Amino acid sequence: MRIVKTPAKILAAIRKERRNGKKIGLVPTLGYLHAGHEALIKRASKDSDVVVLSSFVNPLQFRRKAYEAYPRDTERDLAVCKRLRVDYLFLPVSKVIYPDGFDTRVEVKDLAGRLEGASIRWHYKAVTTIVAKLFNMIEPDKAYFGKKDPHQLILIKRMVADLNFPIKIVAVPTRRAKDGVALSSRNSTLTLEERRALGVLPTALKKVEALIKCGRTDRSALRKILVSMLESEKLVTVDFTAVVDEATLLEDRVGRKTLIYAAVFIGGKRLTDNLVVKNP
Ligand code: PAF
Repeated sequence: MRIVKTPAKILAAIRKERRNGKKIGLVPTLGYLHAGHEALIKRASKDSDVVVLSSFVNPLQFRRKAYEAYPRDTERDLAVCKRLRVDYLFLPVSKVIYPDGFDTRVEVKDLAGRLEGASIRWHYKAVTTIVAKLFNMIEPDKAYFGKKDPHQLILIKRMVADLNFPIKIVAVPTRRAKDGVALSSRNSTLTLEERRALGVLPTALKKVEALIKCGRTDRSALRKILVSMLESEKLVTVDFTAVVDEATLLEDRVGRKTLIYAAVFIGGKRLTDNLVVKNP
């Protein structure tokens, strides 16, 4: 595995690989790799010849305190990348990504403000900015993102289409425990009782999925069913729910797929999950 720290070097190395006929897969991350990242790397290894993992805690997408507190463990990340045979680890520092005078942002306009985005447009603008920069710095054929964060995924797909990036976005399914709970490093901070209570989240999402598959289209009623199922678990406080068109994130638009999304608090920790279902 090669560790590369500058945009010029990674682009030169990747262009050389491409001249040799190799297909390039990019896994963008914030580092501190977990099981979800491993699933992205494994998928990238399956359908790309060369796997590049970028590890960069993007300061623009965090408030200052959260940026400073973001967990970092480069040694452990290196071990994960080596074990999973990542070919290139792109490990830039902030100054090379945002040199003095950096003054450009890439923003997906209306979509960014939907779902939970109204108050955190700045965050999504920062995500699309860094992802666009990574796409230009690495020029991958494919880039891999988890379905765990559906809003981010939808914005990146929109940006790729709107800005004509010749890159295929591969959405990798969320890994789940036996009881359906989405794997997340946050789960390990729950008590046994809280972890048990979290089971209601995938159960409620699946119930609404089943109703949609049976032909129910009344989304606001479906959202109420979702809320009441979640509230049936006494340790759960519902924070945000949505049953919306997957492409536009609007409740009253009916396209090919429906996104069912929920964010809850359990024991003071905010946990999210979602399912996307094809409309019958
Ligand atoms: O989902 C993430 O890990 C980050 O938002 C991303 C896509 C790597 C951009 O910093």
